[in-house]
Amino acid sequence: MKKGMWLAWIVLTLLVGGAVGWQMFRPGEVLRMSPGPVLPGHQAFGQVCESCHTGAFEGDEAIQAACENCHGDALRAAQDSHPAKVFRDPRNADRLAVLDATQCQSCHREHQPEQVHPMGLTLPEDYCVACHADIADERPSHENLTFDSCATSGCHNYHDNRALYETFLLKHIGEPVMRTEWRLPASTLTGKHPGLDSNCANCHASDRADMPGWITLPPDQACGACHQFQRNGFQSSRHGVRTKWGIDNQVARILGARTKTTGIRSDALAREQGCTTCHRLHEPGPVTVQTCRACHDGPHSRAFETSPHATLTRGEQPFSCATCHFPKARTARGRVQTHHNASANLRPNEKMVRTVCLDCHGLGFTLDALAQPELIRTNFTGLPTDHIPSLDWVAVREKASGPKTPPQAEDQP
Ligand code: HEC
Ligand code: HEC
Ligand code: HEC
Ligand code: HEC
Ligand code: HEC
Ligand code: HEC
Ligand code: HEC
Ligand code: HEC
Ligand code: HEC
Ligand code: HEC
Repeated sequence: MKKGMWLAWIVLTLLVGGAVGWQMFRPGEVLRMSPGPVLPGHQAFGQVCESCHTGAFEGDEAIQAACENCHGDALRAAQDSHPAKVFRDPRNADRLAVLDATQCQSCHREHQPEQVHPMGLTLPEDYCVACHADIADERPSHENLTFDSCATSGCHNYHDNRALYETFLLKHIGEPVMRTEWRLPASTLTGKHPGLDSNCANCHASDRADMPGWITLPPDQACGACHQFQRNGFQSSRHGVRTKWGIDNQVARILGARTKTTGIRSDALAREQGCTTCHRLHEPGPVTVQTCRACHDGPHSRAFETSPHATLTRGEQPFSCATCHFPKARTARGRVQTHHNASANLRPNEKMVRTVCLDCHGLGFTLDALAQPELIRTNFTGLPTDHIPSLDWVAVREKASGPKTPPQAEDQP
């Protein structure tokens, strides 16, 4: 009897332990021991614990490596103003003692939803004071400014200042609201897909052992085999990050718990997001506003159709959501392709200055427009009413310091 009890106990322990272990290490599934939700930007894949916890017993170094693995390229491309290497300089040791800026987690703590500011910042918003307390000594324009205003739209960002650094502002002082000539990237559309009439298997063949033969709706892997640039962009965005692990990419899963706040139509929740959601190849044509509106129904999205931009065309293509959110890129080999990471030029919104607005508008007008939440809500219907003084301050400083060597050449005007 006693022996039987022990046996039952052991079996029960094994069963429970096994079930917990299975939950913990089953790839792509919810681990029930999470200490709390991850940052809003990570919730689409927060349940894939191994995306950050790359090994069961790995520590902070491995987590830091995971952050850099997903974000390193973008931060480098953004010419990060505060890269870790700046802080390895011994002259900055006193600053590091205040705030260890070599570690992402110092400013972006996970699993602590109660202290999250926009863009995953988990420090109080005036934290620039930790290192730049004496800024007003060097710059009279900054006297009387409070430290919670440094990162105000149009002023500074911590990482990406490509549209905000001093020589850039200097070069764009006094620009008119509209450029006389728009920069128009060449269209990439051929309207005809090679192989569509012959090599059906390129898209419709299955390589799954359990499902040989024909697949009617081609899976993302088939497209990605030939379109790596587009696939990589898609998989780095909120739209597609789940497909990195091949887990289902249903809209409801992308949203997780956030369905109420994101302006996604409730009848889109059951849809899968993949290449063929936007691309119909047998009857090709551009991706339209309606493609996006089938899911997006927040105030900003609804306002687009009645905004002045919606009446414009760019080259052969109408101005659409994609003009701003899927901008064109020139790749290393000089080909013009479409950026598929709709998250990449969104936050902070000055990322859109150089990728989109400056093609047609002047810098001063653009910074004013992007700084106004109301204009974003109305999808840029109406003129900006507030003014960001950054360019004026640079002009004053330039005048005071006399003629200088002209700003260096840049990759983009
Ligand atoms: C986006 C990256 C990311 C994902 C995804 C993630 N974590 Fe974490 N996790 C972290 C970071 C960073 C820390 C260190 C946080 C700290 O020290 O404040 C951490 C810490 C922890 C800790 C230790 C908490 C503590 O108080 O010391 C546990 C336990 C944990 N995570 C479990 C999980 C589980 C379970 C999942 C999946 C459901 C998960 N994590 C998903 C980044 C992540
Ligand atoms: C000293 C604080 C600090 C540290 C350290 C830090 N960040 Fe940030 N991060 C910020 C702030 C503030 C923002 C908000 C936007 C801005 O000001 O650039 C931000 C925004 C971001 C964003 C979204 C906006 C963007 O420009 O892409 C990403 C992604 C990001 N950080 C990743 C990282 C990673 C990865 C690391 C580590 C290599 C890191 N951060 C280290 C403060 C920090
Ligand atoms: C598997 C890839 C992946 C890993 C690992 C990862 N991130 Fe992210 N991160 C993303 C994606 C995708 C987004 C959402 C899109 C965007 O904002 O670029 C994001 C968003 C962010 C943001 C903006 C948050 C917001 O709510 O707007 C910050 C900050 C950030 N990540 C920092 C980190 C840090 C710090 C780590 C390491 C603990 C990390 N990331 C690990 C993919 C990753
Ligand atoms: C942990 C310390 C630290 C924090 C926090 C910090 N900075 Fe810096 N910052 C530096 C260092 C180091 C430099 C390099 C130049 C120097 O030595 O002053 C720098 C440079 C800059 C520059 C000049 C960048 C360039 O490209 O020349 C600006 C502007 C700036 N920081 C603004 C900010 C703002 C705004 C914040 C808050 C959002 C901030 N910093 C937070 C340490 C910090
Ligand atoms: C065997 C390689 C191959 C596969 C597989 C493939 N493509 Fe293509 N695709 C191409 C080539 C080559 C072009 C023409 C490129 C150009 O015009 O520069 C093209 C052009 C395109 C275009 C622009 C032209 C048009 O007709 O609209 C889109 C969009 C596109 N592909 C999407 C997809 C999608 C979605 C899939 C998966 C269902 C896919 N492709 C699978 C090779 C491929
Ligand atoms: C470059 C990728 C690609 C190639 C090559 C391709 N298809 Fe498709 N096919 C698609 C996509 C994407 C869809 C989804 C619907 C659409 O695009 O209209 C599709 C859908 C279909 C459908 C379902 C249509 C429906 O209305 O449900 C059929 C049937 C089909 N393809 C037949 C073929 C045949 C036959 C060939 C070879 C002669 C071929 N396809 C070659 C990408 C491709
Ligand atoms: C949310 C919608 C959306 C999704 C999802 C999407 N695309 Fe696109 N794609 C676009 C837009 C917008 C364009 C620009 C051309 C246009 O307006 O039709 C484009 C253009 C393309 C082109 C033409 C070449 C270029 O870069 O301009 C290819 C190839 C392509 N996409 C492949 C893919 C692949 C592969 C996937 C899946 C990994 C994918 N797309 C997913 C919206 C999307
Ligand atoms: C099948 C549904 C679907 C379609 C079609 C779709 N989206 Fe999305 N989109 C989503 C979901 C879900 C999110 C995530 C929202 C969130 O996380 O708050 C999203 C997020 C976004 C974001 C914010 C990304 C971020 O990092 O916060 C932008 C911008 C966006 N979509 C633009 C577009 C554009 C432009 C199109 C058309 C070319 C489009 N979407 C088509 C479902 C869709
Ligand atoms: C003139 C450029 C422009 C056009 C056109 C545009 N957007 Fe945006 N969109 C933005 C900017 C800038 C933001 C960043 C807002 C911020 O700072 O938070 C944004 C933010 C978003 C977001 C993130 C969350 C939100 O709702 O604020 C989504 C989703 C989005 N746009 C979808 C769309 C869709 C869908 C369309 C077409 C119906 C569209 N956008 C047209 C510039 C544009
Ligand atoms: C392809 C060129 C083009 C691009 C790119 C573009 N715009 Fe515009 N924008 C225009 C034109 C042209 C008008 C005037 C339209 C009219 O009044 O009919 C305009 C008007 C505006 C207006 C005033 C609207 C009104 O009601 O008078 C604002 C604000 C604006 N744009 C902001 C932006 C911002 C911010 C971006 C970048 C996210 C941007 N635009 C990108 C061409 C462009």
